[in-house]
Amino acid sequence: MDCSKIKQALLSLPDGASEPIVCSLFISELLKVLGFDAMGTIPEFKTGSGGNKVDYAVRKNLNNDDIFIQTKSNPYLLLEAKGKHINLSPNSGHYNSTVKQLKGYLLEPNCKSAKWGIISNANHIQLFRKHGKVIHPALPCLEITPDNLDKIITAIKHKIDNPKKALTVAIYNNKGGVGKTTTTVNLAAILTRLGKKTLIVDFDPNQQDLTHSLGLESTGDTFYSWLVNKNSKPPSGLIKPCKVSPKKGMVWQFDIIANDEKLQYIEEENLRQLINFSRLRQALEPLTYQYDYILIDSPPNWRFFSKSAIYAADIVLIPTKHNSIFSLENAATVIKRFIPEIQRQRKDGSPIALPIFFNGESMTEAAKLVAYKAINKIIAQGKKDKHYPIDLTTYFYPKFSPAKKDPHIFSIPSYATIANAAFARLPAVYKNKIATEHYLALAKEYFLQ
Ligand SMILES: Nc1ncnc2c1ncn2[C@@H]1O[C@H](COP(=O)(O)OP(=O)(O)OP(=O)(O)O)[C@@H](O)[C@H]1O
Ligand SMILES: [Mg+2]
Repeated sequence: MDCSKIKQALLSLPDGASEPIVCSLFISELLKVLGFDAMGTIPEFKTGSGGNKVDYAVRKNLNNDDIFIQTKSNPYLLLEAKGKHINLSPNSGHYNSTVKQLKGYLLEPNCKSAKWGIISNANHIQLFRKHGKVIHPALPCLEITPDNLDKIITAIKHKIDNPKKALTVAIYNNKGGVGKTTTTVNLAAILTRLGKKTLIVDFDPNQQDLTHSLGLESTGDTFYSWLVNKNSKPPSGLIKPCKVSPKKGMVWQFDIIANDEKLQYIEEENLRQLINFSRLRQALEPLTYQYDYILIDSPPNWRFFSKSAIYAADIVLIPTKHNSIFSLENAATVIKRFIPEIQRQRKDGSPIALPIFFNGESMTEAAKLVAYKAINKIIAQGKKDKHYPIDLTTYFYPKFSPAKKDPHIFSIPSYATIANAAFARLPAVYKNKIATEHYLALAKEYFLQ
């Protein structure tokens, strides 16, 4: 890849260059070097039916019937540019508002097909990935210098030219019994019903509830050996199908990596001598090109297995209970301490947390208000935290606006069929219409565009 032109462009930019100058000198070269030509680049692309326009939409043209500047449909990547005088260093006010702007564009109707978004002002640059409704960092926000420009462009180009198919989701709260396993199984079942190829991973070897709830036995050492021997290819027998035939000629199937006896009985200390918690991510890598969703069930507590699950994930889904203050406080701890700890090691800006949801308890209006009061306190404490000050509002109240009395937190109520499904060794979603509706709503709320 020849980066000489873009390097020249970078050096020629005056300090404080305005957005049009950054675009005409730097961004135009950036898009070229990423492989998008003039026929595949539309400036001021209309993102939806409103008046919003993103600075650039691009995609490669496949043949003469598919010229982007003619069809103006199915963009692959959006780029929002700023002038050099706008500070895009991570977590600055302008950075946060620009990310929000880009995310808004990526979710608009004309951009459904977009898989990537970039923000840049020629001082900083960041790549985001979009999967369904979820948008998460694919690289950290990087400061651009003439010396690291080649490296940054190579990293971006590598990501966008080799897109992964899967969104990897860890279902986690370090509080026990909040519905992690139940959510994993039923979310997999509903995504499967919607035609998404889904894999679930039981990474709670002490309990193995996921494995047992689907009627599988924990035997052997297939999963253990795969992790410890550092084989890249999953061994035969590792991935087992969970098949249901709702009517003749129709099959719903998701896959499961069940846990095994060796992982159950080995001391955590001994396992840590053999592998570290990046191994699960590395092991799952080839599977991220085969599945639409990989869901990882993790144990409560913040130790080897849960750290591995979060390390492997693009995003973290956090079930809580509205009437358990500990589940809410623990959710805040996951967001402000545990996830950033993994982000610092991963160095790609991910994983990030999705907003929390309430699971498995019926809720009166009065109980809801008590929960909101507790959450308001957690949010206020988060802002004042000495070590990790953070605004948690969007993680608890994603739809918050000062005008709304009820800030709305998504919830799956207590439902007997969900509670009893493990006895039937079948996800509740495959047995019951109401359970299906609840988990369909969850999938739509968080994942599907
Ligand atoms: N929406 C629901 N309605 C009724 N019961 C539920 C619901 N969600 C979960 N449960 C029940 O609550 C219990 C705890 O759920 P689950 O095992 O999924 O929690 P967990 O977070 O995985 O627990 P652990 O921390 O022990 O792994 C189970 O008995 C499950 O059947
Ligand atoms: Mg569990």
